[in-house]
Amino acid sequence: MKYKMTFLIELNNVNFEYDNFKISNVSFKLKEGEKLALIGANGSGKTTILKLILNLLKRKSGIIKAFGLEVNKKNEWEIRKKIGFLFQNPDDQLFAPTVWEDVAFGPRNLKMSQKEVEIVVEWALKSVKMLKYKNVSPVNLSWGQKKLVALAGILAMKPKILFLDEPFANLDMLAVKELLEILENLRKNENLTILFTTHNHFIIQYWADRIIVLKNGTIIYEGNPEDGLKLPEIKKAIGTWDDIIKIIYPGGEIHEHPHIHIHSHKHIHYSDLESHEHKHDNFD
Ligand SMILES: Nc1ncnc2c1ncn2[C@@H]1O[C@H](COP(=O)(O)OP(=O)(O)OP(=O)(O)O)[C@@H](O)[C@H]1O
Ligand SMILES: [Mg+2]
Repeated sequence: MKYKMTFLIELNNVNFEYDNFKISNVSFKLKEGEKLALIGANGSGKTTILKLILNLLKRKSGIIKAFGLEVNKKNEWEIRKKIGFLFQNPDDQLFAPTVWEDVAFGPRNLKMSQKEVEIVVEWALKSVKMLKYKNVSPVNLSWGQKKLVALAGILAMKPKILFLDEPFANLDMLAVKELLEILENLRKNENLTILFTTHNHFIIQYWADRIIVLKNGTIIYEGNPEDGLKLPEIKKAIGTWDDIIKIIYPGGEIHEHPHIHIHSHKHIHYSDLESHEHKHDNFD
C-alpha cells in the first residue's frame, strides 16, 4: 500500500504585522496524528500564529490551508468548527453562569437537539474529569480547573485538531500528569492531532513529536526535540536550567562526571550445577 502523508494544516510564507512586531515568512505543516510544539520566548509570536491559522488575525501575505482548504473569510467558520482552540488564559474563554452551561454553549450553537447536547456535554466533562463541577460557576474554579472546563467546551464540538495555547502553564506536577493522561486518552479514542505551545522543557523534550522554535516572529528550527534542544542557538532562544543555576550559584561551576552502573545476578554453571553470585561493572 502506498503511504499517504496527510497534512491537516499548511502555512506557506506567512507574513503579518502589529505595530511593533512582525511574523516573517513562516512556513510549516501539521501532520495528521502528531503533537507539534510551537515554542519560543515570551513574545516570540506563538499565540499570534495560532490566531492567524484560525483567521482571528488576518495575514498580510502568504497561504494558510486547513484540511486542504485555503483559510479565508468564507470558510473560517467551517474551519474553526473542526479546530478546538484552548486559549492561553481560560478567563477569556469561560463566560456562562455554570460549568455545564459553558460546555453546552458550542453544541447548542451547532443546533444539536437537547438530548444530543446533554450526551456530548456529559461526555466532554467526564473526559476532563470535571463532571462533578457541572453546577459550579466557572469564576470560582482554580486556574487548572478552568483550563479543563475550557477544554471540555472545545471537546463538545468534536474537533479534529486541538490548538492548545500553554495548556501546562500554572499547573502543578500532579495536574500536568492528569492533563497528559486526558490528552493521551483523547488522542487514542478521538484520533486528535495537537498543535500546542509550551515553555515546559520536560514536555518539549519528552512529549512533543516535533518542535518549531520561534524567535522574534521567525522560525529558527523545525525538527525533533532531541536534536533541537542541543543546538546552542536554540538554547539561547529558549533559555536553559544551566543559565538559571549560574545565577543561584554565581561562583560555582557545572560539571559532568562519569558514573558507574553496578548490578549483580545469579547464574548457573552447567558443568557442576553449582550456583554462585558474581558482579558486572558497566562503565558508560
Ligand atoms: N493586539 C496586539 N497589538 C499589538 N501587538 C501585539 C498584540 N498582540 C500581541 N502583540 C505583540 O506581538 C508579539 C507576539 O505576541 P504573542 O502573544 O504571539 O507571543 P507569544 O509567543 O504567544 O508569547 P507568550 O509566551 O508570552 O504567550 C509580542 O511582542 C506582543 O507584544
Ligand atoms: Mg502566547
